Amino acid sequence: MFDQLKAELDSIMKRDPAARSRLEVYFLYSGFKAVRAYRRAHWFYLHNHKFIARYISQRSRHKTGIEIHPGAKIGRGLFIDHGMGVVIGETAEIGDNCTLYQGVTLGGTGKDHGKRHPTLGNNVLVGAGAKILGPFRVGDNARVAAGAVVLDEVPANATAVGVPARVVRLNGIRPANLDQIHIGDPVSQQICGLRFQIECLKKKLEKLETEPKTEQSE
Ligand SMILES: CC(C)(COP(=O)(O)OP(=O)(O)OC[C@H]1O[C@@H](n2cnc3c(N)ncnc32)[C@H](O)[C@@H]1OP(=O)(O)O)[C@@H](O)C(=O)NCCC(=O)NCCS
Repeated sequence: MFDQLKAELDSIMKRDPAARSRLEVYFLYSGFKAVRAYRRAHWFYLHNHKFIARYISQRSRHKTGIEIHPGAKIGRGLFIDHGMGVVIGETAEIGDNCTLYQGVTLGGTGKDHGKRHPTLGNNVLVGAGAKILGPFRVGDNARVAAGAVVLDEVPANATAVGVPARVVRLNGIRPANLDQIHIGDPVSQQICGLRFQIECLKKKLEKLETEPKTEQSE
């Protein structure tokens, strides 16, 4: 347990140039406190003590301004920087070593039931004020820019910016510079499908025309 705590403190020290010591992170970082409270609340949630779980989570929200639903699934090394205004929904999932800045929402659109919140892969960065809404995946190493509103999947190693968010970098390359030649043309694929269906219908028609018209002839 002590090793786990040390690893969490070190992962924050690594990512925040302003952090001077583990002591400072432990006592003064609201993001660190909120994640620790979440881990306690999640334990109670899993052991079917939902009220205690929500109680811990709401107390932590009161103290830190960060609301993490105890039902969310969060991996190792989550760093919530500054924190105020962060909301993480009940069915959200977060991989290892993700970073969230203040004002981030991992929420639902209000249209889905069951799994309603997004899933973040490993090493995902979500900038200040970004909203990720819906039950889709944000791939490993993706970056969501400050202020973005993400409503659809973000591939791994992509950078998504804007409202609604669009991918502006994939593996560090602008989409305009991506290899367009070897990407399948969706229009010609549709035409091929239609041709195939026409051929099938033609054959069926020919077969019907050549069959003896038994009922009519009688
Ligand atoms: C998106 C971000 C992570 C950078 O990712 P990156 O992969 O290095 O992307 P780049 O800096 O190369 O920018 C890619 C493009 O997105 C644009 N962009 C970057 N951040 C943007 C934002 N927040 N909103 C809109 N466009 C943005 C850039 O201008 C660039 O545009 P171009 O294609 O016309 O050149 C970074 O800009 C960001 O938003 N970080 C969040 C930091 C934060 O919230 N800090 C709060 C501290 S308190």
